[in-house]
Formats: sequence, structure tokens, C-alpha cells
Amino acid sequence: MSVDRPRPLVAGNWKMNGLRQSVEVLREVHAGYTPGLKAKVELVVCPPATLIYTFAREAVGARIGIGGQDCHAKESGAFTGDLSAEMLADVGAAYVIVGHSERRQFHSEKDVDVCAKAAAAHRAGLTAIVCVGETRAEREAGRTLSVVRKQLRGSIPVDSNSHNLVVAYEPVWAIGTGHSATPQDASAMHHVIRATLREIGGGTTDEVPILYGGSVNRGNAKALLAAEGVDGLLVGSACLDPEGWAEICRS
Ligand code: PGA
Repeated sequence: MSVDRPRPLVAGNWKMNGLRQSVEVLREVHAGYTPGLKAKVELVVCPPATLIYTFAREAVGARIGIGGQDCHAKESGAFTGDLSAEMLADVGAAYVIVGHSERRQFHSEKDVDVCAKAAAAHRAGLTAIVCVGETRAEREAGRTLSVVRKQLRGSIPVDSNSHNLVVAYEPVWAIGTGHSATPQDASAMHHVIRATLREIGGGTTDEVPILYGGSVNRGNAKALLAAEGVDGLLVGSACLDPEGWAEICRS
């Protein structure tokens, strides 16, 4: 049984896109985020780290959450090029994505690393958006459930609850390919994820939002959001176009 959430959460992952002038995109998103829409949808924008401070200032009073796309597990130290969760919080982030498949793939991040990053997010007072999802090869080998269950068990810190954790189911084969999961497939996986969260966290994770991500666009957002157990969306490329983003939110 899935828990009814008051408002779906729609998060935008900008990845490595955006310069200072992109604040205009945020302004357009803000302008379209009417009081009526605010009552119905919770918005989070995760720009590249260089824009978090500007975006967070711009979002003050707008009720748009700002998030990072990754953080280091440690608070500070000799880790050239890295950013701590405390640094993200310091410039106004309230969320951070951890364990995105592009981090797992291009930076060899393992579940244990993701778990440490999520714990760092909690330490800094951020909500961790923990990503899980199987590759095409794993899916074709019939390993989807075991892979996703293992990722969840390995990536979620014990202190997680509905205030500091969001899970994003992002099948790797759906990311950036234009081939999203069907609402039925997403729904089935979200039920498995919900059941696994219950095993991991007892009652404390019952209301953790479970987002679907992977080739979400204005054409499929409505059906995905309507799928049982889907509490929101994690949107990549489609979130860079304010009109498309607004349409996704309205759906
Ligand atoms: P996409 O990316 O919407 O461009 O497929 C989603 C993500 O990677 O979070």
C-alpha cells in the first residue's frame, strides 16, 4: 500500500548545464509557479554548484527548494575539487542528489560511498535524494529487483526518515535516451522500493517520497505522475526548458 502524499515533488537535475545568465530560467520557473501550483506541486531545482548561491538567493520566498548534485562525505579537508554537504548548505541548498547513475558510472561510486554522502547530507541538515536504478544489461538478465534492492540497502543511512530522504528510481537505460519506463513498470518498481524501505527503516521511511526519473518530458509526465506509488519526478534535460518544465508541473 502506498502512502498518499500531500503534493508530488518535481525535482530538476540540471547536470553540467547552465551559466550565470541561466538565472533567467529560474525566474521564468518562479513566474510560472503560481499560488495554485504551489499548493499542488513541490519544486526542487538542482543547478550546477556554481549557481547554487545565486539560485538560492533568487528562490528566497519562492518556495522552490535548491539542491546540489553531489557532495563529499567529509565535512572539510584535502579533497581537491570536492564540495562538502556543509558547503552546499552554507550557500543555501536544502537538498543534494547522491548516487546518480552518472556519478556511479563516471566516478565509480559504490553504494557504500553513496551511503556516506547521504549521511553527510543529513549531518549538514540537507535532504538526500538517493538515486537507484538498473542498467539495461541488468534488466535483460532479469536482475532488476535484486540490483535495486541491493542499492537501496547499501545506499540509505540508518538515520533516514521522511524529512531527510527522497528516493529516485532512475533506470539507467531510461536516462537521456528518450525511452522512459512505462507508468506500469514505474509503479511496480516503486512498490518494490517502498517495501524495501519498510524493511530498512521500519515506519520511519513510510512517507519518504519515491520519484521516477529517466526521459521524463511534457508528453509522459502526467501518466507517470498518475501511476500508483509514484510520488514525484526527477527531470533531467526537460527541466532546462522553462515552458516544458511548467507543463510537467501543471500535469
Ligand atoms: P533525463 O535525466 O530526464 O534527461 O533522462 C534524468 C536524470 O538523469 O536525472
